[in-house]
Amino acid sequence: MGLGGSGPTHNYSRPMRIVVLTGAGISAESGVPTFRDSDGLWEGHHVEEVATPEGYDADPVLVHEFYDARRRALQKVEPNPAHDALARLEQAVGEDLVVVTQNIDDLHERAGSHHVVHMHGELLSALCRACGSRHCWDGDLSGRPACPGCGVRELRPDVVWFGEMPHEMERIYRAIDDADLFVSVGTSGAVYPAAGFVIEARAHGVQTLELNLEPSEGTAFFDEARHGRAGVLVPAWVNELLTRL
Ligand code: APR
Repeated sequence: MGLGGSGPTHNYSRPMRIVVLTGAGISAESGVPTFRDSDGLWEGHHVEEVATPEGYDADPVLVHEFYDARRRALQKVEPNPAHDALARLEQAVGEDLVVVTQNIDDLHERAGSHHVVHMHGELLSALCRACGSRHCWDGDLSGRPACPGCGVRELRPDVVWFGEMPHEMERIYRAIDDADLFVSVGTSGAVYPAAGFVIEARAHGVQTLELNLEPSEGTAFFDEARHGRAGVLVPAWVNELLTRL
């Protein structure tokens, strides 16, 4: 289905499967910093220090303190109109919308989205390096708490670092291949595999739309690109879509 399809207003009676990929830009207006600032640092750190298994092995205390601070900061932010709009879209189309996020925050869920794939993991989860179990976690990890599963003090942030495999790739590719529309929101298109999703979508005849503050690295691959703040562009796009369904 094309972007400009017409149909019964406010009556979701025909299938339109949508995959929305989100990145740091969707949470920027909530006050969560993006990754690729002009200084190339993430909150004052080189990405290799805090977002690689090697960085963790070299200085686990630094890495734990870094993610503990990010986890605490989550409590001070709220979803913004872009997260709200995607939750509203899910209310209208149900499981036909899948949000695939690169973000480790929980702002999509707090806005009311249920079908969210966290391909880069979640801040509010801890992964045990000893037994491989995962646990909901809203406290600090720097005190090296015991794993609730096996008791060993080897919990690490349950986030996907560079060099590690993102989660649920099969499910994501299946959703993209079967979609009618792929939308990318607030991502620089600098990090694979997510940066390649637009190519996958095109190869399967899926319509593609970019909503980003500025042209992403992959902007030329999209059928359509709109540039501006996610808090404005996403609600406007959702309103537009809902009047066409
Ligand atoms: N509205 C829309 N887009 C915005 C906004 C906004 N208010 N603010 C910033 N952006 C855009 C930026 O222009 C940029 O293109 O969001 C994008 C953010 O890009 P990155 O900081 O590179 O974030 P992201 O694409 O999510 O990074 C991907 O890289 O470091 C890893 O694992 C980390 O998941 C992350 C991945």
